[in-house]
Amino acid sequence: MALQTKRLLSKRVQDLSDTEFQECSRLNYGTSGEMWYRLNDARRESIRAEESQALMIRDRQGKLIAWALLFKDRYCRSYEVHFYVPQKYRRQGLGTKLVDAVKRREPKAMVKPWNKASKAFFENFPNFSNA
Ligand SMILES: CC(C)(COP(=O)(O)OP(=O)(O)OC[C@H]1O[C@@H](n2cnc3c(N)ncnc32)[C@H](O)[C@@H]1OP(=O)(O)O)[C@@H](O)C(=O)NCCC(=O)NCCS
Repeated sequence: MALQTKRLLSKRVQDLSDTEFQECSRLNYGTSGEMWYRLNDARRESIRAEESQALMIRDRQGKLIAWALLFKDRYCRSYEVHFYVPQKYRRQGLGTKLVDAVKRREPKAMVKPWNKASKAFFENFPNFSNA
């Protein structure tokens, strides 16, 4: 059953507050998470920060429960996107909601499946390119 959530909020990485930055980082393995590394990287480089977006979904209490990072690759050629939904919130449509929002903005963003499960997930969205 679909979760009752607040609206998805999309923000430029350079406009993220410190709290939002930390919430995103914490949800995805803290500073050992690949998304943290990318987020930090995008935030440090002003050109990429302007073009990078964090898409965040919160529950009704305001707790961050899923997010995606859309960002330019190191050479600013194309967009890459990463998604993270914690285990307890998976298979409830959050990942799909994030993908729909990303596709409205950058239909050709590249994705890099992490494992078999995310490969199965992305098979539902055949127009995404594999990074
Ligand atoms: C991949 C991920 C984003 C999917 O998020 P999610 O919220 O669970 O996805 P949804 O609920 O929208 O799933 C939609 C459909 O994708 C497919 N799918 C999702 N997870 C799957 C899995 N583990 N195995 C097989 N199919 C899967 C199913 O068809 C599912 O529909 P169903 O639940 O009705 O069967 C989430 O599992 C995740 O964050 N994983 C860890 C990080 C990661 O791998 N990120 C992607 C690489 S950037």
